[in-house]
Amino acid sequence: AVKKSPHFNDRKPFKRPRPSFSQNVDDERKRKIFVKANGPLPNGFHKSPVDGHLSTKARKSLTLKENGASSSVLSSSGASSKQFSLQEQRSKLPIAKGKDALIREFQAHDVTVLLGETGSGKTTQVPQYLLESGLARDGMIAVTQPRKVAATSLATRVAAEQNVTLGTSVGYSVRFDERFSSETRIKYMTDGMIVRELMSDPLLSKYSIIIVDEAHERSLRTDLLIANLKTIQRQRNGSQHVKGKGKDRADASNPLKIIIMSATLDAEKFGRFFSGAKILYVQGRQHPVKIYHSSQGQLDYVDAAMRTFFQIHTDYPLGDVLIFLPGQEDIESLEKTIQIYANQLPQDRMSVLICPMFAAQAAGQNSKVFLPASANTRKCILATNIAETSITIPGVKYVIDTGKCKEKRFLARNTGGGFDTLLTRDITQSSAMQRAGRAGREGAGHCFRLYTEDAFKAMPLSAEPEIMRCSLSSSLLQLKCIGQDLETLDLMDQPAEESMKSSLIVLFLLGALNREKEITSVGRQMAAFPLEPIYGRAIIASKEYGCTQEVLDIVSILSASSKLFVESSEQRDAVSEARKKFRNVCGDHLTILNVVRSYQEIAQSEGKSSRKEWCRRHFLNERALLEASDIRDQLRQTCQRLGIDHGVSCGDKDDPVIYSLGYGLAMNIALLQPDGTYKQTIGQSTVKIHPGSSLCDKKMPAIIYDELVYTNQIYARGVSRIPKSFIVTLGALKQS
Ligand code: CDP
Ligand code: MG
Repeated sequence: AVKKSPHFNDRKPFKRPRPSFSQNVDDERKRKIFVKANGPLPNGFHKSPVDGHLSTKARKSLTLKENGASSSVLSSSGASSKQFSLQEQRSKLPIAKGKDALIREFQAHDVTVLLGETGSGKTTQVPQYLLESGLARDGMIAVTQPRKVAATSLATRVAAEQNVTLGTSVGYSVRFDERFSSETRIKYMTDGMIVRELMSDPLLSKYSIIIVDEAHERSLRTDLLIANLKTIQRQRNGSQHVKGKGKDRADASNPLKIIIMSATLDAEKFGRFFSGAKILYVQGRQHPVKIYHSSQGQLDYVDAAMRTFFQIHTDYPLGDVLIFLPGQEDIESLEKTIQIYANQLPQDRMSVLICPMFAAQAAGQNSKVFLPASANTRKCILATNIAETSITIPGVKYVIDTGKCKEKRFLARNTGGGFDTLLTRDITQSSAMQRAGRAGREGAGHCFRLYTEDAFKAMPLSAEPEIMRCSLSSSLLQLKCIGQDLETLDLMDQPAEESMKSSLIVLFLLGALNREKEITSVGRQMAAFPLEPIYGRAIIASKEYGCTQEVLDIVSILSASSKLFVESSEQRDAVSEARKKFRNVCGDHLTILNVVRSYQEIAQSEGKSSRKEWCRRHFLNERALLEASDIRDQLRQTCQRLGIDHGVSCGDKDDPVIYSLGYGLAMNIALLQPDGTYKQTIGQSTVKIHPGSSLCDKKMPAIIYDELVYTNQIYARGVSRIPKSFIVTLGALKQS
């Protein structure tokens, strides 16, 4: 068991028992967990160690080349010390030694699978190597990421390493936010963005190299991208990957190179999918990590994480702590409690700097996470699984692993579902190992698992690909636009029958597909919006009802990554008082509209600081309003392209807005039952209105809702009343 600190019981806040840990894995085995990652590759694959392959001579000539030809890499005169230290960091990364060998392999193969431990330098260095070596010719290098924050923060880092302004030669593109120009050569982008680009550029001809990063995560868009890349490469390079398809048109002037990168070693599947792919391996630098399991399961993992953090803080030497939590809510609540107790620490103690890190943060918002903490300060990083493999945070010596993550999962219609839910669940063994590994990047480290060793052994080995557990309607619509279908696409794994069927039904009900499963013109317009199909549909309907301005305002808020309304359990009365001002009898959607309109008025007449103050007073998150305003600008552009006048307003009338939303939310309708609950019109679930809704205690004959959330029962969130007669209209329209 972990030694008790003599100071520990002196302080009041820590009276509650701390989780006790047993370190019941002997040192040798622990090391093996990590050594395994350096071990042999699965049978049948050729392992090419790219580490340490360079002779001194080769290294010298490489340096010369860097200094001479490529001025953006190292400007020989006047390089600032910051640049110098960045370049020094670059050259010390494990991947740097293999640079030449890597370039040779990339040059020789059309498809390469590059495996290597997190932090070895794959994501930041490989694109730069490709650019410097001229392998990208005149084209762009795309680097895809499953998560928005990863794309923006990696682009920022690489722009700094290249010593250029972000948005010039190094840029990024994520939904509703992009920074790139005609100069851009390296573009970090979400997998969703590049799949979207297929609609306007089916051969992705702008890109000469596409790096599919974090492929082990098997996100839905990554899988769709990989499937498409195989065909695109066949068309652009000739037909070397497919036997007997000589008629494929090859545009030999613009061949495509594909690089698949992954932090885990199960490359077999990628190798098989791209037959002929070369598998390469970067030797990582992993120090031993001592793993401790808690001797009992921890029901309240947030509380257990807090107590473990202070245990480390009092008992262990300097070194940053990384805590893995499932989501934003847990991160924010833990941030608060740690801060409260950290403020009570004795003066002579190390101080604590808390750095939260999660997907909804705006670009640049988490930059302090990468800076070294000031003297005698311990950084405490609270992160979702974004810090597992996508982003390496320097300085981490201790990891606290709650063993939880959020997972999107499609609930089949026959179980009352028919939609995606985001549920907190246990992680996989592979995630647990990655999380522990984060403690051993710079030296020996410690990982505290807030679950038992038996619980670890009971975890699944690795996650199921997203395509097998998520709703597919949005992707299917995009595929239909480019003349593809989930059923015929050459995918690494096939989605479940049920979810394919369900997505067809959804798109049919929205009017995006006809009975022959062909895309309609409404479907094409819907796909043009970077939105869930339901909201695209609402905007298109708003044209008919003359309320596009209103619908855009509402949809923009619903699409923002942060929540509009701030919850505060301490000031519940003040919150509900503030909410009342915006309340509209129709429900949450028009309440949102009232907030947006009030904010716009304030924004016009007041300065930045009083705007902020106004938001604070009304328990509104200004970040959501600002983000929504950017989103609205982009949606307006899409409207313009489609010939929808985004300025048309219905003034004070409510019904047109509700009708438009009704078109989009046609699947999300529920009718009041005699017992006061609501029953879905499509699907069999009984739902209640979410306590956070403005209609929570109201009885409306019929409602539409944005989403269902599962806790102990099913709640409808984002609710508005809708006239029953209109539902009939919607139904009638569906028949025609
Ligand atoms: O992709 P891989 O996990 O192999 O490594 P990487 O993301 O290229 O990271 C290489 C190094 O860059 C790590 O040591 C990171 O700490 C550092 N890095 C950073 O300091 N700041 C960033 N925003 C991104 C990476
Ligand atoms: Mg990476």
